[in-house]
Amino acid sequence: MPKKNLALLTYGCQMNKYDSERIAGILQNSGIGLTDNLETADVIILNTCSIREKAEQKVYSQLGRLAPLKEKNPGLIIGVGGCVAQIQGKRILQRAPQVDLVFGTFNINKLPYLVREIEEKGIKIADVNDGYDIENDDSSAIKREGSVGAWVSIMHGCNNFCTYCIVPYTRGREKSRSAGSILREIRGLAGEGFKEVTLIGQNVNSYGKDGVEGIDFPDLVSMIDNIKGIERIRFITSHPKDLSDKLIKAMAGLPHVCEYLHLPIQAGSDRVLSRMNRGYTSSDYLKKIENIKKSIPEASLSTDIIVGFPGETDDDFDKTKDIIKRVGYDGIYLFKYSPRKETPAAEFSDMAPDDVKQERFEEIMELQDGITLEKNKLYEGRTVEVLIEGKSRKDKEKFTGRTRTNKLVNLAPNQARGQEDLTGRLINVKITKGNLYSLEGILVSENQSVKASKQKNFDSMIP
Ligand code: 5AD
Ligand code: SF4
Repeated sequence: MPKKNLALLTYGCQMNKYDSERIAGILQNSGIGLTDNLETADVIILNTCSIREKAEQKVYSQLGRLAPLKEKNPGLIIGVGGCVAQIQGKRILQRAPQVDLVFGTFNINKLPYLVREIEEKGIKIADVNDGYDIENDDSSAIKREGSVGAWVSIMHGCNNFCTYCIVPYTRGREKSRSAGSILREIRGLAGEGFKEVTLIGQNVNSYGKDGVEGIDFPDLVSMIDNIKGIERIRFITSHPKDLSDKLIKAMAGLPHVCEYLHLPIQAGSDRVLSRMNRGYTSSDYLKKIENIKKSIPEASLSTDIIVGFPGETDDDFDKTKDIIKRVGYDGIYLFKYSPRKETPAAEFSDMAPDDVKQERFEEIMELQDGITLEKNKLYEGRTVEVLIEGKSRKDKEKFTGRTRTNKLVNLAPNQARGQEDLTGRLINVKITKGNLYSLEGILVSENQSVKASKQKNFDSMIP
């Protein structure tokens, strides 16, 4: 039988990108290889996001663009997975008749079977049941993007029910993977030459709370830190209410854990935080930030912020700006509140008009750009460790990588090293320029040992 082709369109967060790696790997094992070309694909899958309304609209407009392909080639299978699929289920089949398959976030493992059923019986299927067993995920069937850093899912779902957020409805309740299977996967990655792992979950600090193993998130990170070959460990996302002193201590002490933390605050006003059901006040949050800064002085910090939450007053908004200035984030992910009808906040009164959201959005963008640039300029003249991820997409002459603090670095072409491929290497880079979105630098030397370099990096970061 001739080999079939899969085109995969991915929207949304790192969890979806990771799921796409699983979708690609699982289907490849059943003889359906990846292609970038929609025109020649036999199967097209949209892995969708529903966190904001716009993300959901994108899915339907993309499906509209795919309809003529289906008309030309009736054998083409169009599938919709991810969060929109999980929420909408078979309604997608009614709204977009060109779709053959709807599958949820829990049943990716069933994909080869579902595709075969459609091929053989010529039927349409909507299967979004929650029969998910996180232990059954076959990590050997993941088609990873890149060869230096890998995502590793450690838990699935969220129990927090922030009043604006659809995730608890699309990804279900928290389920942690056993430490044994996570460690096995990461040892395998180290064996394949991967240098960095990013542990992903909606709320990684809750890791293990639903399990019987008695292993919490800092314990898990400590175990991973001992795996030979893994030079860097990152994780996303941490919920401020669950971020423990034990984790901060582990981050400060474990040599491979990077000095970077993404800690979403969402808003600076306690009134808004309470209406969001975040479970902390701004002063609780600031205390944790103080502890992080004291324990890991060179840590870089990022956050998520929502502007225009229902009932957000000018005074509430000023509090968000105050907290941004007080923390001094290296970067923020900024969102305009988008009502999701499945969530409680969609029923709240005092919806902010679009122009107010837009104004607040722009004001924060401008404020943060100034802070980010200032922070990046502080790197100028310093020597930092960079893990090279590959050639720059924009300029094939240059290698790019990241600092431990998660700053993107573009390396000037190095005459002495000629065409040598630096991908996957840890090198010391002298930063020559700090821009808004990246740093520029020149190679100084190759790193011998990460343990030694953590100390060296600390030293060189002190102005
Ligand atoms: N509107 C706007 N932003 C949202 N987020 C989650 N739900 C919404 C929503 N309804 C943002 C939060 C979260 C990030 C992943 O997306 O800031 O941390
Ligand atoms: Fe959504 Fe809140 Fe859970 Fe994050 S913690 S996924 S914002 S419900």
